Amino acid sequence: MNTLANDLSTLSQSSRAFLGAPHQHFINGQFVEGSTDEAVAVVDPTSGETVGHVPAGDARDIDRAVKAARRAFESGPWRKMRGADRERLLLRLADLLEAQAPEFSEIESVNSGRILSATRAIDVDLSVSYLRYMAGWATKITGQTIEPSIPYAPGANFFGMTLREPVGVVGAITPWNVPLGQAIWKIAPALATGCTLVLKPAEQTPLTALRFAWLIAEAGIPDGVINIVTGYGQTAGAALVAHPELDKISFTGSTRVGRLIGEAAARDMKHFTLELGGKSPMVVLEDADLEVTIPGAAMGIFANHGQSCIAGSRLFVHEAVYDKVVAGIARIAQDIKLGPALSLDTQMGPLVSATQQKRVLGYIQSGREEGAEIVVGGTTLEGPGCYVRPTVFANVKPDMRIVQEEIFGPVLAVARFKDVNDVLRRANDTRYGLGASVWTRDLNKAHWFIRNFRAGTVWVNTHGVLDLAVPFGGIKQSGTGHELGEEAIRHHTQLKSAILALSGPV
Ligand code: NAI
Ligand code: MG
Repeated sequence: MNTLANDLSTLSQSSRAFLGAPHQHFINGQFVEGSTDEAVAVVDPTSGETVGHVPAGDARDIDRAVKAARRAFESGPWRKMRGADRERLLLRLADLLEAQAPEFSEIESVNSGRILSATRAIDVDLSVSYLRYMAGWATKITGQTIEPSIPYAPGANFFGMTLREPVGVVGAITPWNVPLGQAIWKIAPALATGCTLVLKPAEQTPLTALRFAWLIAEAGIPDGVINIVTGYGQTAGAALVAHPELDKISFTGSTRVGRLIGEAAARDMKHFTLELGGKSPMVVLEDADLEVTIPGAAMGIFANHGQSCIAGSRLFVHEAVYDKVVAGIARIAQDIKLGPALSLDTQMGPLVSATQQKRVLGYIQSGREEGAEIVVGGTTLEGPGCYVRPTVFANVKPDMRIVQEEIFGPVLAVARFKDVNDVLRRANDTRYGLGASVWTRDLNKAHWFIRNFRAGTVWVNTHGVLDLAVPFGGIKQSGTGHELGEEAIRHHTQLKSAILALSGPV
């Protein structure tokens, strides 16, 4: 028996029933067959075994879904629904998801290879919270009133105002690293603002989104408001991006695809938000509290197996504490227990796919070839599972590929520094600008780094923590626009201005 493979017989009966059932697109409130018989195999990365198939959607499926979303936006009950009623639907969805949390967590762990406590916390519980957070916004979307002083009509009486209206039909494309979480980051603000949406989940991890479709139907969300089409990026994803009846694209994924999507969206004047890659630095100053820093920085890179856009993949350590910090993180990496996602004593599962494992091992190989020193890890586990041991490279040089390119795996590149100006320059010397952290007890230095890091989010004495009310977005090649918080509302609404000529006193 392969002890690194999930034992699917430990799953709850309802999870097994869902995995064993045929999967279909969710369009206009119905589960429907795809336009072709083509299917995408869904794989458990602990074993490489296929655990199901979803339809490989094509342009016809996307067209059906976008048309349903368009109809729901233009003429369904959704358009007339009051904020308070949308709030109630979001709260109902949150309650339904919360009630079935263990099943969602199990399905996510089988499909993505991440341990149950991680899928529970990050995909399920955070999604429940976000649905509730966004429910609150549904009744708080406001414009302004403006008292005009129109210079060429001195005696006339005018009144000005702005309305915040839903942008319309949103096309959402999500990645595989936090599958349900990313889907809900797209769905919740669309529902809060009165938009409609077509979601194309990552081909590797479509299952929890399809399971969530059951809840959409059960909660009483009007038909066509949320639609889900599964399939590959180059077919289903590209057809969604190109669809003329879409008003906005919300994408999370690679910078390469994000650039294609931004270009296509700009041509059609569609709204777009892009959450892309990262190569986030963590900077440890001489005075840092190492009791906090060593485990914190290890989590900064190894959380989610490094498959995170905000992973702290470059670590800069002041030379006075360098040896201690590297040794401490290496010890943690060494001790992380790898194993199947469903086993309760596992601390880290496999990467999401054989493709990702190969990509990460390719980077590890490039690091060796370019002369970086491997302190720990760098290898896989025997067998078909997509495992990569947590890996630490020391004494890296700025132009190495492992320092410049996003790896999206449990691989840390560590370098030393003496001077804060020098380390700031090196930390910012990347095409990405998603996250950055500084570890210090000195408030002034912390503040100086907050001001000077070129990144969308800066952390102090922690790395990668997100809050649903704090906007999240990247600069440079890490993307444009924000998710979470009030910014998510802003990005799902558009301003309309109105000027009224009043006739004078009544
Ligand atoms: P990807 O960007 O190709 O895939 C993300 C999503 O985009 C998936 O749903 C995919 O089907 C879709 N997609 C792909 N090509 C498309 C196209 N031409 N038009 C429309 N949609 C398309 O990312 P992939 O290949 O899964 O991973 C490659 C690398 O991207 C990773 O190693 C990592 O470095 C980075 N990445 C970053 C993520 C982030 O959170 N920022 C998430 C996933 C990957
Ligand atoms: Mg790709």
